[in-house]
Amino acid sequence: MNVALGITGSIAAYKSLALIRLLRKNGAEVKVVLTKSALHFVTAMSCQTLSANEVYIDQFVLTKGIKHLTLSSWADVLVVAPATANIIGKAACGIGDDLLSTTLLSFQKPILFVPAMDSGMWVNKIVQENVSRLCKAGFHILEPSCGALASGKIGKGRLPSIAIIHKKILALCQGYKFLNNMRFLVSGGRTEEDIDPVRVITNRSSGRMARELLYAITCRGGIAKGVIGEVTVDFPEDMDIIYTRTSDEMLKGLKAHMNWCDCLIMAAAVGDYRPKTKKTKKIHGSELSLRLEKNQDLLKKLTSMKLSPLVVGFSLEDSLHLARGKTKLISKKCDMIILNSSSAVASETTHAKMLKNNGEVVSFGKITKWQLANTILDECIKALSKRRKKRK
Ligand SMILES: Cc1cc2nc3c(=O)[nH]c(=O)nc-3n(C[C@H](O)[C@H](O)[C@H](O)COP(=O)(O)O)c2cc1C
Repeated sequence: MNVALGITGSIAAYKSLALIRLLRKNGAEVKVVLTKSALHFVTAMSCQTLSANEVYIDQFVLTKGIKHLTLSSWADVLVVAPATANIIGKAACGIGDDLLSTTLLSFQKPILFVPAMDSGMWVNKIVQENVSRLCKAGFHILEPSCGALASGKIGKGRLPSIAIIHKKILALCQGYKFLNNMRFLVSGGRTEEDIDPVRVITNRSSGRMARELLYAITCRGGIAKGVIGEVTVDFPEDMDIIYTRTSDEMLKGLKAHMNWCDCLIMAAAVGDYRPKTKKTKKIHGSELSLRLEKNQDLLKKLTSMKLSPLVVGFSLEDSLHLARGKTKLISKKCDMIILNSSSAVASETTHAKMLKNNGEVVSFGKITKWQLANTILDECIKALSKRRKKRK
């Protein structure tokens, strides 16, 4: 994947250096275009060193090719991150008065703007009109996040996390379908059940599958909300997440949003067993016997709520046992169930089968959780549009 990265004169420009590293770490080739203003915030030397490529600044230098045209034919995607109000305005008006704006005019593959600015600038009517104009013209916009701004204010205007920008670039290059503001409630991570005030029974689920789902939903234009248990991986702070610990807390968090969502995806590893009694004081002694009982079935409880989002369940089945999967699909009233093997636990990849309630079975070989997340979302788009047609 060849990425042309335009960096403009925003205080968030320093974050683009981390984006260059992340893109390269994941195998992309990066060429950076800097505006004159960007040079007040990052140096050409940093960009050149991190991208391991020539940095593009000036349009009018004597070289062999015409810079904006050679860049345009080389790159698969042009990303402007951070994008100032100024570059957004210029692009919306078709102005080409420097190398980046001229490249934007000539580029015919996907273009992504990642605006970052003070909240006052972001809500400015002209800026908003320019953003809408770019959207209508087919440019992609990753909206800024809310949070602390350089001015000290709290508001909308922050550059989204680098990880989200990276996934958005991937989703654009891989040509995934737009989710059209569909609302997804995703559970993930592992639950803990208390033995005593300091000890718990839990499992090794890392939260990666839910994180990839949340990334994919956000980057494909859906609205994502996570109800997440204990995790081993980091979740970006600009994701909408309710953190929970026990299965009771997770159930409460999910129940509260069942009305809100179009689709529920239950990727959490909810403990199958929990201690029959919880001691109120720390247990001492040289030996300990624990009596466990079956934990509550969150998915069953949620699907019996008489609300009707589309429901995708997950089930860890070592031999991807189809018959057991089918029983679960029916007894838990799911629209789809994903069987994955224990090799998926805490891993970037998995082996999986997808069982649908129409009897169809899709088998995947080794697949990354990002690919699996996107495949699940593709199925959700199909199933949700079928439902809508039926209702009409
Ligand atoms: C300290 C400082 C921080 C700035 N941060 C931003 C910003 O985050 N977003 C923005 O749109 N403009 C910001 N600006 C204003 C732009 O730098 C200015 O509009 C400039 O002309 C943008 O040029 P460019 O779009 O060609 O890079 C900032 C200016 C200064 C002095």
